[in-house]
Parts: sequence; structure tokens; C-alpha cells
Amino acid sequence: MRKLVKFKFKKMNLFNVYPLYDITPVKAKGAYVWDENNTKYLDLYGGHGVISIGHTHPQYVSALSEQLGKIGFYSNSVQNPLQQQLAQKLGEVSGCEKYYLFLCNSGAEANENALKLASFITKKSRIISFDNSFHGRTSAAVAVTDNKSINAPINLQHQVTFLPLNDIKLIIHEIGKGDVAAIIIEGIQGIGGLDEGTSKFFKKIRKVCKKNKVLLILDEIQSGYGRSGKFFAFQHHKIKPDIITTAKGMANGFPVGGVLISKRYKAKFGMLGTTFGGSHLACTAAISVLDIIEKENLIENVNEVYTYFLKQIKTVPKIKKVKGKGLMLGIEFDFEVGELRKKLIFEKHIFTGGSNNKKLLRILPPLTITKEQIDSFINALKEAVSE
Ligand SMILES: Cc1ncc(COP(=O)(O)O)c(C=O)c1O
Repeated sequence: MRKLVKFKFKKMNLFNVYPLYDITPVKAKGAYVWDENNTKYLDLYGGHGVISIGHTHPQYVSALSEQLGKIGFYSNSVQNPLQQQLAQKLGEVSGCEKYYLFLCNSGAEANENALKLASFITKKSRIISFDNSFHGRTSAAVAVTDNKSINAPINLQHQVTFLPLNDIKLIIHEIGKGDVAAIIIEGIQGIGGLDEGTSKFFKKIRKVCKKNKVLLILDEIQSGYGRSGKFFAFQHHKIKPDIITTAKGMANGFPVGGVLISKRYKAKFGMLGTTFGGSHLACTAAISVLDIIEKENLIENVNEVYTYFLKQIKTVPKIKKVKGKGLMLGIEFDFEVGELRKKLIFEKHIFTGGSNNKKLLRILPPLTITKEQIDSFINALKEAVSE
């Protein structure tokens, strides 16, 4: 006789690592997001600075849909001309033609590969990073992130020295020990709270690195892709890094990361690699973003809206300081902004971000944002801080 097997159906739950706002976006367009109750939100955060060309841009949607109908993926063991097309376009739009491109899938992976490459090239392993930095959550990327609470013992085996921004003497001292492979620095600090190196500091570290054969890695994962008002934030300082990492805005939400490597350094088979990186779909998304940035003059828009924002924000009370550049901005108040963010999202229906600096409201809108949308934010912010 056949035995009846009783299955117990248990619910699988998610590993609960994210503190969530109780909002469920179901559709989005441009700088707006709608939840399941059809409430419309102004998105000044772009899901951590990911949305560059605006949500569901029609050209992007049709490019991806068309590509998906042809071929979405094949591995990096056959030719994929879209990768070369993306490299060519990125070189042209960013002005970084003299770099090679390695494609991966996220910001952490881009930094992980950049650090590995620096170590391969220099045959050294110590990295200099900065106080309050964030570079991702994987092995070496999290080790060079200045946050002990997200580093497990396995990550802490990496050799990393954290130094304050803008102190060149300490850098010279550490590099003098002869065991440093690279300096990794964000173009503008994101989660840390929008602090950045001065032009003088960037120029000096460039010089010191070159003199001592230490690689300079610019993490442009958040500050790149036009967000700062130049294609990459380091371009404000007129320097040329050895390695540049990029992700977030690169494909408007499709997971893509990139490592730009100076032509001085030669590739070897097997040095880096990935299964998914540089797929047909990923390249199509990334090419489409670059086309739209160029066609719609989005970097010009960033600079125009930034100038307008700086003028308008002066009319809001209780602000101590505005930090950052372009559309990578931090508004620092003289109080903690947790409650203000909740008010903005639940009462004014505006998404903003926080940072390690609890008094700072982080603004990372799509690069397509208009002055009228900034007006809506300024009016809502005035009301919210005065209520
Ligand atoms: C400057 C910087 N680097 C690296 C990362 C990690 O990127 P990802 O979350 O795609 O791994 C982030 C993400 O916030 C970032 O802001």
C-alpha cells in the first residue's frame, strides 16, 4: 500500500537585513513613483542614486525590450560586440578614452576587482582608505569601508589603514613604509555624508601615488555618471586616476558595474572574470543610459538645477550647510533628520535619503529633475521644518 506523505507547508521568510519604510512602489515614471494605493511620490533619492535618466524612460524601455527579444545573455566565452560598443561610448561621453573597461554587476564587485587589480600590479596588499568611507559589502570592498559593524572577522584580515581626508602628510608617512598597493577614495563621499577631498588634496595624492608606484582608485560608484555636474567627480580636480570604479547610475537600475583601468596596465587572461558581467541586456541598458545622457544634455541640466537649488535652499530655515556638488547633495540641519524624512515621505510624499551624519538629508534625484520639481521640494521642506 502506498504511504501518504504529509508535507508541511511553511512560509519562507526573507533574511531581515533592511529596515523598511512601509511603502510599496508599483510603478514609476521620470522623477515620480506610485505606490499600490496610487499615491504619487516625488523621487529625490533614485533608490540610492541609481536612477540617472529617470524611471522607465521610453527609449531605455524599448531598447531593453527589443534586446530581450533577441538575446539577453551569453557568457564571456564568445564575442559580444555590445561590450565594445559600450566601452567606446563610455570613453567618448566620459572623456576617459585612455582606459580599458572591465564589466561586472555591482559597485562592491567593481571595487573588489579594482583592489585585486591594484594588488596584482603592485604585488603589495595594504590599502589606504578614508575615515567615513563606504565602498561596498564584499570581502575587500567592505574591509576598506570605515564601518566596523558591517565587517565580519573574515573581512578584517585585509590590511587597511584609514586616514582623515585632506591630510597629505599622513598619506606620505604611510606610503613611505613601502607596502601600500593603492589609495581608494570616493569622488564625493556618499553614505559618509557628502564630505570630499579638496582639489589640492586630490592633486597631491595623485602626485604622491605616481612617485611611489601606488595606484589611485577613484570610487565613482555614486558620484559618477554626471551626478556631480561633470561625468566623474574627480574631473572637477583635473586629475587622472589609475583605476575608476562605477555602478549605480550606469544602467538606471539594471545591475551593472564597471572598472576603468589606465592603458598603462595590461590584462592577462583569467586576471579578472565574471559569469553575468557585460551581458547583452546589461550592455544595452548601459548604452541606452549614455545615449540619453548625451542626447538630453543631462549633465548641463545637473549644473543648471544645482545653481537653482543653491539659490532656493537659502529660503529654507534651520539649515546649517549644503554639502556636495551637482545633484549629489546633503542638506545639513541643526537637528537629527529621521523625523523630517518620515514627514517628507508620509505627509509630503517625497523620497529623500539619510547618511552616517544623522543631521544630513541626502538628495540624489534623477539627472532629469526640473526646477519646478525642486520648487515642490523646497516648499514641502519649508513647511515640514516649520510645522
Ligand atoms: C561610493 C560607493 N561605493 C560602493 C558602493 C557599493 O555598491 P553596491 O551596493 O552596488 O555594491 C556604494 C553603494 O552605496 C557606494 O555608494
